[in-house]
Amino acid sequence: MGAVRTLERISFELPGHVEGKVRHSWKLPDQKRLLVTTDRLSAFDRVLGLVQNKGQVLNQLAAWWFERTADIVPNHVIAVPDPNALIAVDATPLPVEVIVRARLTGSTDTAVLPRYKAGERLLYGYHLPDGIEDHGALPEPLITPTTKAEKGGHDRPTTVDEVASSGVIDPGMWTEIQKVALELFRRGTEIAAGAGFVLADTKYEFGLAPDGSLVIIDEMHTPDSSRFWAADSLEERLVNGLGPEAFDKEPIRLAMAAVGYRGEGTIPSLPDEVWATASARYVELYERITGLAFIPGAQPADERIRSNLAGWLDADAVPVSA
Ligand SMILES: Nc1ncnc2c1ncn2[C@@H]1O[C@H](COP(=O)(O)OP(=O)(O)OP(=O)(O)O)[C@@H](O)[C@H]1O
Ligand SMILES: [Mg+2]
Repeated sequence: MGAVRTLERISFELPGHVEGKVRHSWKLPDQKRLLVTTDRLSAFDRVLGLVQNKGQVLNQLAAWWFERTADIVPNHVIAVPDPNALIAVDATPLPVEVIVRARLTGSTDTAVLPRYKAGERLLYGYHLPDGIEDHGALPEPLITPTTKAEKGGHDRPTTVDEVASSGVIDPGMWTEIQKVALELFRRGTEIAAGAGFVLADTKYEFGLAPDGSLVIIDEMHTPDSSRFWAADSLEERLVNGLGPEAFDKEPIRLAMAAVGYRGEGTIPSLPDEVWATASARYVELYERITGLAFIPGAQPADERIRSNLAGWLDADAVPVSA
């Protein structure tokens, strides 16, 4: 096995740099935005570690999905000049994360499964029936929005009606977003099923393009923004009281929870094998969903990204060397 090479951060600097938990982002001229996806893994709203090849999987898989759903809603993709980089339309993000759930699941205290098991039946404004098993199907896919937290904070659950009445999004546009989200989720479910995965839930982000029109931004149907479960083992595992075989961030969340970590204080270190398994599953998901071989980008990634971006960057914004 070769050395584990991960991309933690980009060492070059450009004006207008914004650093998220997973992505670096820069505003470019002509209402464009550059997004570089690193290998950082975030959960509990914290960066917990690095997963080899994750940034490339996320960037390339999202681009693949955007292309396959462009008939449903316009997306922010302009070009993919590098395995880890995206040139996007610079949008004004809407302040709501649009989560669609088909399954009763989740492991954190605020997730729907623990709340349902504690007896709650009114969740995100929906009355759920009794008798749904752990990780079982909801009566239909439900939109459970959260308001986007400021940096360092936690997202807050809200409801479809609350978003409509709050005025943070134009009501007509919010109706359109809900329709689009359910349609995207249906497409995602179908394609995932063809590759042997259950799409349990996902999160969409929308924004306003410079002309004011609706555009889907960020990422789509990636293992960071979604829960993907192996379909073939699911029924047997649930019957035996085991959780799904997850091809996403959940194994890291569970491994952290198993050593007592809930998002506060010092981040425990997990065995290398846990991170290696996460990496292998991210890559396997990419290959099975897209039907393409995963070809890791040349190393060092930082230099490669810099040279692939050369043609996209303004003469004034030439990266300074690290
Ligand atoms: N086309 C776009 N225009 C403007 N902003 C965008 C666009 N696409 C994505 N973004 C924003 O860029 C940021 C991406 O960074 P990142 O994924 O690291 O976000 P994060 O929310 O900090 O982390 P996490 O994904 O773990 O919640 C997000 O704030 C997202 O809303
Ligand atoms: Mg994000």
